[in-house]
Amino acid sequence: MSSPLVWSAVESFLVDHLIPRDDAMDHALHESERAALPAISVAPPEGKFLHLLARLCNAKRILEIGTLGGYSTIWLARALPAGGRLITLEISERHAEVARANLQHAGVSDVVDVIVAPALDTLAWLKADKPEPFDMVFIDADKDNSLPYFEAALSMSRCGTLIVVDNVVRRGEIANVDADNASTQGVQRLLYSLKDDRRVDATALQTVGSKGYDGLLLAIVL
Ligand code: SAH
Ligand code: DHB
Ligand code: MG
Repeated sequence: MSSPLVWSAVESFLVDHLIPRDDAMDHALHESERAALPAISVAPPEGKFLHLLARLCNAKRILEIGTLGGYSTIWLARALPAGGRLITLEISERHAEVARANLQHAGVSDVVDVIVAPALDTLAWLKADKPEPFDMVFIDADKDNSLPYFEAALSMSRCGTLIVVDNVVRRGEIANVDADNASTQGVQRLLYSLKDDRRVDATALQTVGSKGYDGLLLAIVL
């Protein structure tokens, strides 16, 4: 029968067979732990999934909202072709410092800009700059702002841009219409809004693993 122990055992098995050991990835997780950052980086199979998605959509310009120690950032940055760039937004100077060192150690610091400020502020000024559209956006910061982050992502997208949103299931809380925590309600606002959103085609997958029971939303901009 399925249980969190089985989910973790299966994840280890999948990682063993599909994800070669990598010093920079191990280092990033180890340093994040050493700096007492919360252990909420994406799990390795999800990191690699994001990496493969970025390659599938030939992403040359990637935006990430929520850097933490840079673990998902490294996966995404490694998918960039020559000349590609990744901008990652983080509110915590402490997290960004750990991330910058990890990105440096992984050899991707020259293709990544870590911008430290509340992401809504950064997104507003990025948008005012009328940037070339992003090819892929990964939203993984404070969940209360999921909808405004999604709207900001859309406003800097083109037809075909892929928007990925992490943590949309929250141990199943997403389906509880009476949920009273701000994170769940934030993700619910995004889902309510997507119901009638004709600007994107979207789906979501439930996931289990070492990080528990959660899910991932994918949207393609039409
Ligand atoms: N993407 C990372 C995990 C991100 S955890 C990975 O998988 O490796 C979420 C991050 O969002 C935390 O580092 C947190 O500090 C940051 N965050 C929270 N609120 C934010 C805000 N308003 N603006 C920018 N970043 C924020
Ligand atoms: C939390 C945030 C995340 O981005 C995640 O992947 C898991 C948990 C959290 O805030 O609890
Ligand atoms: Mg997350």
